[in-house]
Formats: sequence, structure tokens, C-alpha cells
Amino acid sequence: MVTPATYLAPMAGQSNRAFRELCRELGGVGMVCTELISSTALENRGSRKRALAWFDFDASEGPLAVQLFGAQPEIMAEAARIVVDCGAPIVDINMGCWVPKVVKKGGGAALLGDCGQATAVVEAVLQAVDVPVTVKVRSGISAHQLTAVPFARAAAAAGVSAITVHARTAEQGFSGLADWSIISRVCQAVAIPVIGNGDLTNLQEARQMQRETGCQGWMVGRAALGNPWLFAQWAGLVPAGTPPLPFRAAVAWRHLQLTERFTPLPEKVAVRELRGQLSRYRLDEPGETRVRDRLVHIESFAQGQEILGPLAQNLSWKEQPGSHSKNNET
Ligand SMILES: Cc1cc2nc3c(=O)[nH]c(=O)nc-3n(C[C@H](O)[C@H](O)[C@H](O)COP(=O)(O)O)c2cc1C
Repeated sequence: MVTPATYLAPMAGQSNRAFRELCRELGGVGMVCTELISSTALENRGSRKRALAWFDFDASEGPLAVQLFGAQPEIMAEAARIVVDCGAPIVDINMGCWVPKVVKKGGGAALLGDCGQATAVVEAVLQAVDVPVTVKVRSGISAHQLTAVPFARAAAAAGVSAITVHARTAEQGFSGLADWSIISRVCQAVAIPVIGNGDLTNLQEARQMQRETGCQGWMVGRAALGNPWLFAQWAGLVPAGTPPLPFRAAVAWRHLQLTERFTPLPEKVAVRELRGQLSRYRLDEPGETRVRDRLVHIESFAQGQEILGPLAQNLSWKEQPGSHSKNNET
């Protein structure tokens, strides 16, 4: 387990190197995770270089898990060896992704419907690498097939170091509410650390999850988007509530700067991804959309900087008024 026991969720198209660094710079996040990486793309010599570049990570990032998906034990084992050779300090196995292109090939959440295959994948990865291996699961396939508990038992017996439970079934996607009772059942079933995930937006909810389920850590996904100071607020490093606009703009500006520094993508492609990310920082006065409208049309990093610079009042984002004062929770 890491301290603090707060985890930034793996999120395809969002939790890239720039966003992970941003959360770290703001503080309060214990561990981060890459987006899911295809084991097949890594194992194949022709696509390996591109896959590694796309999912850029660096051991210097601090506690970091590199997440792999796939259904074939030997391919997952080889992919794990490759990322560990590249410096991955922890390998996480994705057993929660429900998008068709992943589950059609038997990976992601599909493995929760086949405990034998899922365990074979876990065992192969554990045998292949000597770094900690963790798994991220959903509650199961559907309300009629809640397999997280038997699977967690098998994974723990095989030797995984921790398990994250997103308390929704694959069938639910992101609909409905997370049902934390499954986290509690997994906690009761295994002796390894369990990280609870699903619908957390503030520290009170995180504490409630811990009280109700006995989980040892919390993972946050969507609530951190356009809101990467959430972890710092939980740690009392940033004042509670919505930070003032210049602070939000400065963080957005830093998000852009880190993207420019770390993206392996051509500027045009990276900027397209960034448009949506920057527009989440709500940089307009209430009732207006002028800044947002401009941000969703940027064509270059320079254009983004032109918009954000004046809003951030050209202050270093770390020197924004109110930042880093010890404080209450949100
Ligand atoms: C845009 C997006 C991309 C995601 N990509 C991944 C992924 O690559 N791997 C994974 O295990 N989960 C992925 N997830 C699921 C999250 O990690 C997390 O389990 C889910 O969002 C529930 O947590 P939340 O309620 O805090 O958002 C993704 C979620 C979102 C919103």
C-alpha cells in the first residue's frame, strides 16, 4: 500500500503522463496508473515501439502501475516482461474494461466470466516478473454473475499484491450507482489490500466508503478530470471548494505545458485530445462559455497558451493565491 492511500484511476485518453505528473505536482496522490495497454500490441515486434511511445511512462514518476489487458496468458506474460524491462515498478492487470474491442477478444471484464482463464493470466504474469502485480476488476459481468469475490480469492491465492474493485458490473458500463457492498464482500474474502472505486467525489464519501467496506485505499477517476487538485484538497494542501479562476487557469496552463513536454503524439493529435481536457476546467464566469468555446477550437499548443496565459495572470501555477495553505477537506 502507498501513503496516502489515494489512487488516480487509469483512464484511457485522460490519465496520460501529463495528467499523472499534474496530479503529482499538485500533491496528495499516492499512486497513479497508466491507461490500459494492449498486451498483443506490446508482444508484436511490429507495433511494440508505437505502443510503448503512446503509453509513455517513466519509472521516475514515483509509485506507478502500468496497466495491461489481454486474455492470453503467454502474451500477457511477455507484455509484462517488456514493460518491466522498460522500468514499470508495478504491473496492473485490467479485468474491468467493457468496451467491445477489448471484451470481444476475451480481455478486460470478459475475464470475469471465466475465472479459470483469469487466474491463468494472473499466474502467468506473476511468474514472468518479479515486481508486484495487481488486478483491477468490476463486480462481475452482470447482476446475475457477480464474480468479483471468487475471482479475488483466486487472484490473492495466486499472489497478487492488491486488488481494485470498481463496484459496477460490466453490463452497467458507467450507468447506475456503484454498489459498494461488493467492495465489502471482497474485503472480507481476501487478506490482501483492497482499493475501492466507484463514484467518489469528495473526502467524506471516501471515508464513508472506508467505513462501510473496510477498503484500504480509494481510487478516483472521473471526479479528478478538470479537477486534479482533488487529491491535494483531500490532503489539506489546497483549500476546499472550487479554487479561484486564476488558479484553475494556471493548472490548465500547466496541463497544457506538461502535455507539450511529454506527449509522444504529433501536436495536432495531442491538441485534439487536450481540447476536451482543458474545457473541463470551467474557466468562464457563470453563464458564459466564451473561454470554453475558444479552447475547444485550439489548433496548437501556442493557441491554448494565448487563451490561458492572461487568465492565469502569468503567475506560476504553484504561486497562485491560496494554494498550498493547509486546510480543511472538500
Ligand atoms: C474516460 C475513461 C477511461 C477509462 N479507462 C480505463 C482504463 O484504461 N483502464 C481501467 O481499468 N479503467 C478505465 N476506466 C475506468 C476507471 O478507471 C474507473 O474504474 C471508473 O471511472 C470508476 O471510477 P469513478 O467513478 O471514480 O470514475 C476509464 C474510465 C473513464 C471515465
